[in-house]
Amino acid sequence: MKRVVLGVAGASGAAIAMRIGELLSGLPDVELHLVVSEAGKRTLAHELGPDALDNLVRLAQHNYSANDIGATIASGSFKTAGMIVAPCSMRSLAAIATGVSDNLLTRAADVQLKERRKLILIARETPLHLGHLRNMVAVTEMGATIMPPVPAFYRRPETIADIVDHIAARAIDQLDLGHPPLGLEWDGNA
Ligand SMILES: Cc1cc2nc3c(=O)[nH]c(=O)nc-3n(C[C@H](O)[C@H](O)[C@H](O)COP(=O)(O)O)c2cc1C
Repeated sequence: MKRVVLGVAGASGAAIAMRIGELLSGLPDVELHLVVSEAGKRTLAHELGPDALDNLVRLAQHNYSANDIGATIASGSFKTAGMIVAPCSMRSLAAIATGVSDNLLTRAADVQLKERRKLILIARETPLHLGHLRNMVAVTEMGATIMPPVPAFYRRPETIADIVDHIAARAIDQLDLGHPPLGLEWDGNA
């Protein structure tokens, strides 16, 4: 079993979190560990409706309170294949960039970095000030991957779901979980 941590922070893009949860839960060898920040609960409800959090929780094998800093995923001794923070707020990005492990989400992210594991941040804000950009540089220098939720228009998406699907699949593919890519590979026909 490959343990994957999904952290959901309070940036816009709850649909991306849900789609990542759906895709990961469909992989037979993946055990999903979920932590949603307080602001993440709010954006899930605002963007996807009152049942969104429950629906996301149902996809995970383990769900933790963001206050539970004693949970398994807070320790490097608990082996994981990596973590995706989707979406990642600028607040959580800043905390991760500075090692401020002030809740279970940022602590679990810190653990991925210190254990030299994969950490994928779907960092969402626009426009960006220099502090945001510096924090992105800092986490990249520490080994994380910044993947802003930017649509790939060359895919000619027809719906928002198409865009969300592509972003979610590409994020999971970054974890190298050992299965064929979830995102369509480019066929070179432009
Ligand atoms: C509807 C809504 C949308 C938000 N969108 C963003 C966003 O796109 N990016 C961001 O950095 N913060 C956004 N915020 C603000 C964060 O939720 C806020 O900074 C919060 O403290 C983040 O906490 P967390 O990092 O613990 O989740 C949004 C807040 C709300 C209520």
